[in-house]
Amino acid sequence: MSYNWIDAKDYTMDSFLLFDRWALRWIFTDCSRFGWFDNGGRDYKLDMAKALYRYPHVTAYVRAKAPECGAFLDEIGAIPYAGWTEAEMREAETAVLQAHETFVVYAYPEVMNQADYIRNWDPKYLYELADLTDKIVLDVGAGTGRLAFAAAKIARRVYASEPCDCLREYMRDKIRRENIPNVKVLDGEVLCLPYEDDTFDAVLSGHVVGDSYEEEIAEMARITKDGGWLVICNGDDGFKRSAPDPELVARGFEWFRHESAEGGIIYNYRKQVKK
Ligand SMILES: C[S@@+](CC[C@H](N)C(=O)[O-])C[C@H]1O[C@@H](n2cnc3c(N)ncnc32)[C@H](O)[C@@H]1O
Repeated sequence: MSYNWIDAKDYTMDSFLLFDRWALRWIFTDCSRFGWFDNGGRDYKLDMAKALYRYPHVTAYVRAKAPECGAFLDEIGAIPYAGWTEAEMREAETAVLQAHETFVVYAYPEVMNQADYIRNWDPKYLYELADLTDKIVLDVGAGTGRLAFAAAKIARRVYASEPCDCLREYMRDKIRRENIPNVKVLDGEVLCLPYEDDTFDAVLSGHVVGDSYEEEIAEMARITKDGGWLVICNGDDGFKRSAPDPELVARGFEWFRHESAEGGIIYNYRKQVKK
């Protein structure tokens, strides 16, 4: 699905030089293996071959940063150059970048902050889901810190867990610039969170849960204290959803609905953890 957060024509394959290993692995192994992308019915491997042709340094970077991508890059490299014009290669490059716009956006946090779901979001939607006053809170997949920094205004301490280096650095810069004393930024993926059992009063996330609900929710519940809260607080995008996520409802989440400033219908969720 394309969110149209960016116009890919504004970017080049050099953006890939900012991608973390986990993102490269997704793009150059899992994505091609499982066909997890919307490339408008185009030939992904041919597009990638055309796109990388003018960026040998990007191929070298991917090989060095994520050696597990080598097999896919070998396949791409074996596609013979067929006299592609500059315009054809640029078109393929744009298609690849648009297909992976989420990773492009993660590499440019200021652009991410202007995405529809973040730019007009009101923190009141987080505060109505759980009382975070003086609590120890984790934000999983924190991004630019939409939830983490809102929580920090009332919580005792907030941990912002984020697997993307550009976004971690963005949050650390903001903490330094604004002298925010109670937010700590760390690495961490939702299926493998680097915390002991029963650590947090509330575990927050937004636009992170959904690839494997059962395992993701189990991992977040593991590190939440008995009686604590799992909170899924999405941003205020323009999508007109017609119903709450049945996967979350089936797993016992309460849902809250509102119309966003962008005209979308937004569902947020919470569930109290019982151990
Ligand atoms: C659409 S953004 C949402 C950012 C933020 N939670 C918000 O709602 O404003 C998704 C975020 O999840 C992170 N992410 C992607 N895969 C992840 C995973 N497996 N575990 C944790 N975070 C992940 C991305 O780096 C990105 O920051």
